[in-house]
Amino acid sequence: MAEPELPVRFQRRFLAARQLRSFPWPELEQNLRTSAGSALLVDILHKTLLHPLCVKYPPATKYRRCFLTELIKKHESTAAEPLDELYDTLADLLNEEESTRCYKNYLLPTGDAVTLSESVAIISGGTTGLITWDAALHLAEWAVGNAAIFSNRTVLELGSGIGFTGIAICKTCNPKTYVFSDCHPCVLKQLAENIRLNGFISEPKTTHRIQAESRGQEAEATNSLQPKIIVAELDWGSVTEKQLLDLQPDVIVAADVVYDPEITSALIGMLQKLSAFRAARKPPEVYIAFTIRNPDTYRLFQAGLDKVGIGWQIIPAHSNSFFLYDVQPNVTILQLFI
Ligand SMILES: C[S@@+](CC[C@H](N)C(=O)[O-])C[C@H]1O[C@@H](n2cnc3c(N)ncnc32)[C@H](O)[C@@H]1O
Repeated sequence: MAEPELPVRFQRRFLAARQLRSFPWPELEQNLRTSAGSALLVDILHKTLLHPLCVKYPPATKYRRCFLTELIKKHESTAAEPLDELYDTLADLLNEEESTRCYKNYLLPTGDAVTLSESVAIISGGTTGLITWDAALHLAEWAVGNAAIFSNRTVLELGSGIGFTGIAICKTCNPKTYVFSDCHPCVLKQLAENIRLNGFISEPKTTHRIQAESRGQEAEATNSLQPKIIVAELDWGSVTEKQLLDLQPDVIVAADVVYDPEITSALIGMLQKLSAFRAARKPPEVYIAFTIRNPDTYRLFQAGLDKVGIGWQIIPAHSNSFFLYDVQPNVTILQLFI
């Protein structure tokens, strides 16, 4: 696939609030030395800070300030005429209050976007679930390239966090039903908000079905949008075989859910419960993406799977281009055979 034009590369990174060091600054500097340099900067400004998606769903104030300051520095280093639009935008940003919540907009290959409201802190409210992790981007990237696995099927996502992978799959892979799940109340609240933000729910109590498994509640209503979206409160430590069977997933996905030995054993216990499917129906296909931060945790997970007789294979790496632009994180996707 051909690399997109420079302003588009800035746009994708900026709207998703990726690290500033992942931006193609050296290429910009080169282009600014030409006569079309100022027009290029204005184009970048309009594709980033002044883009309608950024105006409606802005990344954190601090992030936008840092980005614009960098753009201005690059412009000033060319000794070109000052560009009023850059300084006017900076003045507006300096007048803005610091945000505690921010948005990230991930452009999809279809031209649509996944918009997420996130916390600016990495660990917030005692959970890792309130930001999007690289494994989620990686898994979504792989899913978009393998849409047939999800098309017209029921997908269960474990530890959905605030929903990036699932929303991207819902927007690009045409699943029949998508079950988002997590165990943390703040995460579930943010997840529901993000699902709504992306147009899957127009009116909270009337257009979607929320199933809170552990409380045994279920509210169902009509939803003209496809797929059917379910948000389930599901804790791997306490979910029952019956609850899993009732969801009837054809495919199970999860991103960055193997990061702590205690959590890993709960996850393996739950995967074992899923093997009850073997008797009742075709077992679901399972794909788990994780960032290998500590090789011991990764090995512990594989050893745990071996111990309970769950087979696994590594899915070959794919070329990333839509969502991940920084230095390649050490992310692997495993397919499990339960
Ligand atoms: C590192 S976050 C990953 C979130 C998202 N999948 C991503 O990659 O951006 C781990 C998620 O697993 C959830 N989680 C942890 N333990 C869990 C459990 N026992 N049952 C269900 N979810 C759990 C957390 O609430 C959190 O949302």
